[in-house]
Amino acid sequence: MSRDRWNNRLVFVLAAVGSAAGLGNAWCFPYVCATNGGGAFLIPYFVALITAGIPVLILEFVIGHKFQGGAPTSLANFGKAGEILGWFATFISFVIVTYYSVIMAWVFDYLWYSFSIAWEGDSGGFFFGSILKLTDGPWELGGFSIPVLIGLVLTWISIYLTIKDGVHTVGKVVKWTVGLPVLLLFILAVSGMTLEGAMDGINYYLTPDFSKLTDFKVWTAAFGQIFFSLSVGFGVMIAYSSYLDKKSDITNNAFMTALANSGVSFLAGFAIFSTLGYMAASTGSTVAEVSTAGVGLAFVVYPEAISLLPFGAIGQTIFALGFFIALLTLGIDSAFSLVEGTSTAISDKFDFNRKKTTVGVILIGFVVSLVYATKGGLYWLDIVDRYINNFGILVVGFIEILVIARLMKVNNVREYINEVSDIKLGKWYTILLGIASPVILGIVLVMTAYTEIMDLVNKTNYYASYPTSALILGGLIMLLVTLLASVIFVFFKTKNAKENSEEA
Ligand code: PHE
Repeated sequence: MSRDRWNNRLVFVLAAVGSAAGLGNAWCFPYVCATNGGGAFLIPYFVALITAGIPVLILEFVIGHKFQGGAPTSLANFGKAGEILGWFATFISFVIVTYYSVIMAWVFDYLWYSFSIAWEGDSGGFFFGSILKLTDGPWELGGFSIPVLIGLVLTWISIYLTIKDGVHTVGKVVKWTVGLPVLLLFILAVSGMTLEGAMDGINYYLTPDFSKLTDFKVWTAAFGQIFFSLSVGFGVMIAYSSYLDKKSDITNNAFMTALANSGVSFLAGFAIFSTLGYMAASTGSTVAEVSTAGVGLAFVVYPEAISLLPFGAIGQTIFALGFFIALLTLGIDSAFSLVEGTSTAISDKFDFNRKKTTVGVILIGFVVSLVYATKGGLYWLDIVDRYINNFGILVVGFIEILVIARLMKVNNVREYINEVSDIKLGKWYTILLGIASPVILGIVLVMTAYTEIMDLVNKTNYYASYPTSALILGGLIMLLVTLLASVIFVFFKTKNAKENSEEA
């Protein structure tokens, strides 16, 4: 059977941008930027983009384009270790989608409650109490939270409907899920800027604090943000580019993806911080006091800011719907790209029917995600996210750039790219990919591991307040199982391999 193809170039770029631009852009970037030096953070951010993000993205496009298969099949051209790496990246994607889908479930819930601004008055109590029904610790699961369960079913149904017929249906959906959130974020940013106090918010977001640049954590934050937000190191971009035909452009597509992704992050910062500036002004506090990271920002602080807006009930509902529809459309194409990465990997290796494989991955994904739909689920989500994100991806990206690029011969990679691409890469690219990127990423990786270990040992990190047993299960064991599964999958014989060995 011939391989599925994207309908055209635009659809591929939209799908890649859709995967990249997600929740990471909307709620991580603005806060990470604000607290890691504001405008000065853009320096490490762009250094990370240029020395790691774009080179790895281009490399992943090359790998999928050249070998025409999911991450494991493509990387199997470099031997068993290559295939293990491919599976490791794939299973990381799978682990991520099991909790990413739960965050999408909360978004579905908030869409519903936007009609009554149901969180008004006590947005924290509403989120942790009424929606999550959070227990006292990770070992107290406490059964399902029904609102989360309902949202979760809706999320997986949406994922199924989008990808059931492969990249063709994806193509139809990404036209909406990429354009709409950008438009909505733009409207939110513009109307946010008209509010009193908005400028204080923007100042908090962007005023440069160059002294932060000497802190290594700021640099690791920048690299972490780039990898997660650009979706590199997960095998997803390899899977997506494997549906390109061999004449398609690489460099220009990669630059467009990277620029659009950073643009969405930057825009989201304006939408979020203008409104938080207003909130600070109207409650008589500072922006630093009201803003928080991640989950709390999107589901507690920003909703609360909406409930304070001077637009009346209908205006607030419109604002809330705008925000949550933006989150939904940003997140859903990232979520299904993670599933696509996994099902492409499996169907390519085992020669399984694409559609059945997708359904299988969705069903297993749904079952695993149920863990996080329990009342103690948030704790597990937090722990798993921390460890898979901090180490898993950086490791994959680092090995890709250090080993795979070398095995493919860095100069040949450049020639391969230049043959098909609009933008030709000069000799500098060989130096970047061959020397600068692996050295820089290596340093970042060592520093990340070092800071993480020191934080745990000195208990200077709030993760240390989780029971050690939960950190071991959700962090260490989860990573080991992911790795073990990757090794086991390599040794499953595929139909093709069996036929070949019988012939021999
Ligand atoms: N880049 C997505 C985000 O920012 C998450 C993601 C990571 C999606 C990896 C696919 C692969 O939310």
